[in-house]
Formats: sequence, C-alpha cells, structure tokens
Amino acid sequence: MGDEKILVTERRFKVVGIAGSLRAGSLNGRLLDAAAELCRGAIDITVYRELSAVPLFNEDLETGPLRGPESISRLRQAVAGADGVLIATPEYNQSMPGVVKNMVDWLSRADPEVLAEKPMALFGATPGAWGTRLAQAALRQTLTACGAIVMPSPQLYLRNAADLLGNDGRFADERAKEKLVAFVEAFANWIRIAQALGRRDAVA
Ligand code: FNR
Repeated sequence: MGDEKILVTERRFKVVGIAGSLRAGSLNGRLLDAAAELCRGAIDITVYRELSAVPLFNEDLETGPLRGPESISRLRQAVAGADGVLIATPEYNQSMPGVVKNMVDWLSRADPEVLAEKPMALFGATPGAWGTRLAQAALRQTLTACGAIVMPSPQLYLRNAADLLGNDGRFADERAKEKLVAFVEAFANWIRIAQALGRRDAVA
C-alpha cells in the first residue's frame, strides 16, 4: 500500500477495528487492514483479532465479577478504551453474520455500558454486487438500539471485492482506495463531533 495519502487530524484517535469474519483470507479482514495501514500516523486502528474466542451468548455465562468469560472482558475493554469502533461486516443471507450479532449481544450486556454513545462506523466487502448493504443496515439498526452513535454517511459498500483487494491488502482500484481514505477521514470527524457533543451535554 503506498503512503501517498496519510490523514492528518489534530489528535490521534484510538480506534478498535473489528472484522466480522473468522476466515483466514477474509475480504473484510483485508479491508480493515488496508484502512489501518492507510491512516497510519493519524488514527491508530488496533485490529481486534479474537472474534473466534467469543463464545455463543448465554445468560448463564454472565456470572462472576466480569459478568462473563475472560475473552468477553477483553473485548469489552478494547471497546471501552477506544475513541471509536470500526466494523467491517460481511453479508450472510442478506444480514450480518451470526458472529457479529453474537459479539454485539455480549457488548450490549456490559456494566458499565460500552456501546452507549460510542462513535462507530460500518463498512463491508463482498465478492457480490450489492456491497453488504443489507448487512450494514441490519447492524446499524442493532447498534442504534444499543445506543451507539453510528456514522450516517459516507457509506462504504465494497462490491466485487475479490477483484479489488489483493492478498497483500493492496487495492487494484485507485478509486476504491480513495473512497476508503475519505471514509476513514469522515470517521475521524464523526468521532470529533461526537466527543464535542458529549462534552456539551456534560456541562448542560
Ligand atoms: C454469503 N455471501 C453473501 N454475499 C452477499 O453479498 N450477500 C449475501 O446475502 C451473502 N450470503 C452469504 C451467506 C453465507 C452463509 C456465506 C458463507 C456467504 C458471500 C460472502 O459475501 C462472501 O463469502 C464473503 O467473502 C464473506 O466475507 P469474508 O469472510 O471474505 O470477509
């Protein structure tokens, strides 16, 4: 990935990036890695790579001081400690994959809450023609129900992604790369706005 387009913001936001696929060669994993690389130097995107360790949600597991297993505690801490959360979601059967919904269900049960008022952005990649539109719409609805502040626009739907994203994370298409940079740039602004609003609420 070339470094010709590095974002500049006043403060380096800490973002946790989550790819909603357990697959080694995941297109969404590659998309997220590409975003992290492109905005290196301005936003720190730490990629969360433990999604496969998240158990199926079960209220019976919400025991002990951590209200869940250690893996859930680490996931919650990663989200709680971040200025924003970026999710690259695949689309399965016109919705989000079960592992993504399962993760959100665990996060929604944290005490104190970790999703409420958390700036978030969604994007996604598919080898198909529709670019994860329906998966993102479903995930947006769920996250909004949890109180997260999901960036409304721009939206990034990477279709025909297998042709655009190589194994090395390089974009074969300059326009797609530019859109990704603009998307991450907009997310930095979204975090800034959300944090400013939070501070205004605090003094009101
Ligand atoms: C898919 N795929 C898919 N793609 C799409 O654009 N719309 C869809 O509704 C579905 N449905 C679907 C269901 C199931 C069970 C699977 C396994 C796959 C294809 C999907 O986009 C493709 O496998 C992606 O490569 C998955 O993302 P990752 O793993 O590459 O990140």
